[in-house]
Amino acid sequence: MSFPVDVVVMAAGKGTRMKSSKPKVLHRLGGRALAQHVIDTAAGVSARSVVVITGHGAQVVEAGLMAQAGTALKYVRQEPQLGTGHAVQQALPALGDDGVTLVLSGDVPLTQGATLQALLDACGGERLALLTLAMSDPTGYGRIVRDAGGVVKAIVEQKDATPEQRAIHEIYSGIMAVPTRLLRGWLARLDNKNAQGEFYLTDVVKFAVADGASVVAHQITDAVQVAGVNSPVQLAELERAYQLRGAQALMEQGVRLADPARLDVRGLLTCGVDVEIDVNVVFEGRVSLGDGVRVGANCVIANATVGAGAVIHPFTHIDGEKLGASVGAGALIGPFARLRPGAQLGAEVHIGNFVEVKNATLADGAKANHLTYIGDASIGERVNVGAGTITANYDGANKHRTVIEADVHIGSNSVLVAPVTIGAGGTVGAGSVISKDTPPGSLAVARGRPVVIPNWSRPVKKKP
Ligand code: UD1
Ligand code: MG
Repeated sequence: MSFPVDVVVMAAGKGTRMKSSKPKVLHRLGGRALAQHVIDTAAGVSARSVVVITGHGAQVVEAGLMAQAGTALKYVRQEPQLGTGHAVQQALPALGDDGVTLVLSGDVPLTQGATLQALLDACGGERLALLTLAMSDPTGYGRIVRDAGGVVKAIVEQKDATPEQRAIHEIYSGIMAVPTRLLRGWLARLDNKNAQGEFYLTDVVKFAVADGASVVAHQITDAVQVAGVNSPVQLAELERAYQLRGAQALMEQGVRLADPARLDVRGLLTCGVDVEIDVNVVFEGRVSLGDGVRVGANCVIANATVGAGAVIHPFTHIDGEKLGASVGAGALIGPFARLRPGAQLGAEVHIGNFVEVKNATLADGAKANHLTYIGDASIGERVNVGAGTITANYDGANKHRTVIEADVHIGSNSVLVAPVTIGAGGTVGAGSVISKDTPPGSLAVARGRPVVIPNWSRPVKKKP
């Protein structure tokens, strides 16, 4: 059974209950826009095209979403928004009659690909297939009305339902798969004679029944997959559900989490074997942790690669942004360290507390253990950078590079005024300000001469 699938994502609604100036479908869950989750899941069922219907905040929504490789992403505007049936009507010119239309909502982010595939299988290219769920509290949802034999007859919206119909627990998820040529005919027959004065997509069920077409309900039990986001409370609830699922998947793969409820992955995290992650760690963008990596409590790690056996101590912030950041095998980072874009650390590098590294490479075995700024620099193997050392890389207009060759020792509290090169094996005396290159093997000491005034009396503060 094979037929082309065109996905329609309804994303034109206002989302009034979010009480936000941002369009609802752009609110983020796990670091991605709600509607982006839907688009990404659609790619999993090998959709031929994905048509997103926009209305409220259309321009921002269209600019805020990305196509998945291999799927054509189209936008269709719905102005004004006259209901879900009216929304899908706008998409009809973009849909091929040879295929099946899979209708999804931009604010229902956690449906799984396998569920959509099962719904498409239930449709089989010829039936109207509805994704449904039995809910203990079905308030607000469309109810699935069946006849005595259990055959689906209609979907009735909450506001149009009789008391008997409101007692039905099986609800329509907002997701359906329908042969496009049939959908086209049924949508042409919609009217808005109902409690909300809207063109309901759900009315296609009664036309299908009237035409003798078969309607099937594919019922699932996992409520998270059909949960929609309408308010900040629901967004937060779904975020927790999403994070817990991600944490469980990591643990199944062998990752040891101190507490699965205190981990946030807002992007893609890949882990080797024997990785340990303490509480309150946030990962963003693409992060990869090699075998045996340990991450301490309260770290934020974004867009970075961490080599095997490295230890990231608590309260460390790493963000490689677009350039990326990399930590070599066996390196020790933090506590309270900050790695910024372009930080590339070799094997066994040590970066200690209150050390900031930006756009700089540190070769294997280099160390900067305390209170240091290393920016726009190349640091050689086994270099030791003393406490309080600063690369003065910015002259107010341009950034310049500092080069510290292999085996150099930089004494505490030194300022290296770039552009400058410290030759291999050399030493810089503590408290020096170095603005000229030094040859290999040299000792450079450049301090102001001490000024000593004997018997100097400090001004004394007068008591009131
Ligand atoms: C809809 C279903 C209801 C189902 C529920 C599941 C209809 C008539 N009802 O109700 O049976 O139980 O979803 O969550 O379909 N949208 C547009 N244009 C519009 C109106 C809505 O694009 O003119 C979009 C919204 O942005 C949203 C989706 O369609 O993403 C659903 O609309 P919403 O108003 O939330 O429908 P419900 O009343 O929840
Ligand atoms: Mg809704």
